[in-house]
Amino acid sequence: MKIAVLPGDGIGTEIVAEAIKVLNVLDLPLEMESALVGGAAYEAHGHPLPESTLKLAKEADAVLFGAVGDWKYDKLDRPLRPEQAILGLRKNLGLFANFRPAICYEQLVGASSLKPELIAGLDILIIRELTGDIYFGQPRGRRTAVDGHFPGAEEAFDTMRYSKPEIERIAHVAFQAARKRSKRVTSVDKANVLETFQFWKDVVSEVGQQYPDVALDHMYVDNAAMQLVKAPKKFDVVVTGNMFGDILSDEAAMLTGSIGMLPSASLNASNQGLYEPSHGSAPDIAGQGIANPLATILSAAMMLRFSLNQPQAADRIESAVKDVLASGLRTTDIWSEGTTKVGTRDMGDAVVAAITKKTTKG
Ligand code: IPM
Ligand code: MG
Repeated sequence: MKIAVLPGDGIGTEIVAEAIKVLNVLDLPLEMESALVGGAAYEAHGHPLPESTLKLAKEADAVLFGAVGDWKYDKLDRPLRPEQAILGLRKNLGLFANFRPAICYEQLVGASSLKPELIAGLDILIIRELTGDIYFGQPRGRRTAVDGHFPGAEEAFDTMRYSKPEIERIAHVAFQAARKRSKRVTSVDKANVLETFQFWKDVVSEVGQQYPDVALDHMYVDNAAMQLVKAPKKFDVVVTGNMFGDILSDEAAMLTGSIGMLPSASLNASNQGLYEPSHGSAPDIAGQGIANPLATILSAAMMLRFSLNQPQAADRIESAVKDVLASGLRTTDIWSEGTTKVGTRDMGDAVVAAITKKTTKG
């Protein structure tokens, strides 16, 4: 099982190091190879997604990704910005299906900004289409840029588009995922204003006829944003486009207390996947050893389950994370009165210890 390890920028290197520690105690035949990506790759090779990094990712069974980006690259011309690395990986590997679960861990109910009763037991799954929409529309307004900006320009534009097959395949993913859960899909659109999303709604409804056992409803994105904080537990599977999914998944993540807890998986048609925390590179806390590595560790668990067919190993990681939370250890982002504050490394070590303890016991 070949894993391409792409830590990236900011806290990326710190959190990925902890996930690797965890993978290494599982005694699996994993072959890991690292490469630079994002700002780090730009510094070394002049490009955020060098050919060699892309090749490594393509040849691997799975990619373990940290995070990319730093404000210091805001002046670069767009194709050279760190974010282009993750967009390029998604596009080149065809990773169209992005799973962003928002699960509220029992021990962290108090860490949410919402009332405990609203989020206790929360378990929703946002499925975001990842290789279409306004993110990849053509043509894009690329005026002559100076330092990444457009002095004197009168306009700029991006185009929103979806093809029928693109919507169909993500709709199938959503209905199939719902079958393994509470059998409800909410498709989020902006059909009242945008043609692209009227089309989205029509195509999702059509696909839905093949899944009579799954309840489908449609919601405008502004309403969905509101319902997510009003009554988040009413959702089961939420399926939406790239742009709305970007926004709603951050919102959903925060319901659970911390975006530092949430993993994600991005899969292509052959189950090859890229696994990354739902959060970004957090340059403001990079290098301080305080970032929460759990989202990345849990992403490694998703990788074992979805791309490497090792569900038991995935269970071991997830149950170790629960044990560690139950023991009261918290990184700064999830810390509350009465719990023990630890740094990135100690948190990783604690997960490793929880796994080995169970192994020797069992
Ligand atoms: C995400 C991020 C990315 C996105 C950025 C870094 C390009 O916000 O994965 O949600 O917009 O998709
Ligand atoms: Mg985002």
